[in-house]
Amino acid sequence: MKSLSPLLTEHLQNGTLVCPLCLSPLKIVDESIFCSGGTCPHSTTEIPLIQKKIPILVNFNETILSKEALLATGGESLIPRSGNKYDGIKKIFWGGDSKTRKNLAQFLTSVPKYDNKKATVLIIGGGAVGNGAAGMYAAKDIDVLSFDIYASSNTDFIADGHSLPIADNSIDGIWIQAVLEHVMYPQRVVAEIHRVLKPGGVVYAETPFQQHVHEGPYDFTRFTESGHRLLFKDFKLLDSGFLTGIGTVLLWNVRYAVWGLTRSKKVAIAVAMAFSWVRLFDHLVSDSFNVDTASGVYFLGKKDPNHQFSDKDIITHYKGFQRK
Ligand SMILES: C[S@@+](CC[C@H](N)C(=O)[O-])C[C@H]1O[C@@H](n2cnc3c(N)ncnc32)[C@H](O)[C@@H]1O
Ligand SMILES: [Zn+2]
Repeated sequence: MKSLSPLLTEHLQNGTLVCPLCLSPLKIVDESIFCSGGTCPHSTTEIPLIQKKIPILVNFNETILSKEALLATGGESLIPRSGNKYDGIKKIFWGGDSKTRKNLAQFLTSVPKYDNKKATVLIIGGGAVGNGAAGMYAAKDIDVLSFDIYASSNTDFIADGHSLPIADNSIDGIWIQAVLEHVMYPQRVVAEIHRVLKPGGVVYAETPFQQHVHEGPYDFTRFTESGHRLLFKDFKLLDSGFLTGIGTVLLWNVRYAVWGLTRSKKVAIAVAMAFSWVRLFDHLVSDSFNVDTASGVYFLGKKDPNHQFSDKDIITHYKGFQRK
């Protein structure tokens, strides 16, 4: 017996979630999902499900994901993951999430609201709950739809951010935290975000600037604060800035240097814990200095049909300490 969740069923039936091959509406026939597009292969071959409830909404012609591997492993991640098990410890030693929690509040305030229905927020790369993002799942006036390239207890479906199985102009808010460094073509993902957001919809992104390679072969890109804003140039700026600053970066470097020297992750963690006071540097230097040396950057923006951005605007946007 298949068991699609009520949330998923609603968003399949209201046309928000669409066919990954042709973007036509999907239909549910006896708990199986088919495409309504007459000539589409998914009009006769059902959309595959993981654990009988998580649809794989992937166009396998346009991704490095493998259908066979997803089905054979029950939607397992390509790399080993600890999920949210060590979140408490990570928060104490590697970096606070106070900026993210503040930004989440601003994001939730900025998401369009309706009298008679909930707003829909899409989380891209939501296999684990991001640092400081837990409040999103508790917000009363939004439906959270979350996906990743693997199945987890936090995901409603599997998809690739490069080709969203989502109708144009259908989503009120998008949250993409610590993901854009792991996609091969960030510009393509951001263009998809722009396509599926409603006019007036908002996007929030957090992306590393000075962080070591993580997730092994699946880590490709870093952004300065200005580079990140440029990536989202088609969106009207609501807010942008750095996450944690030079002190946090210093602490991460201590950990990695000791890890490299001792070849022991445990020793590295122990030594870095003893050095956790260096994070104080985040608060001792100016914000503009932290912008140029940050661990990561964020952008909150709105899809606004009247927004215009010329390349010259990125020069005046610069917020770092090398301003004239
Ligand atoms: C560093 S983790 C961040 C997870 C979570 N957002 C957080 O903040 O803790 C990066 C996530 O991006 C996901 N990811 C990588 N490539 C992706 C893609 N093409 N589309 C969607 N998600 C992707 C990974 O599977 C992983 O869950
Ligand atoms: Zn189709």
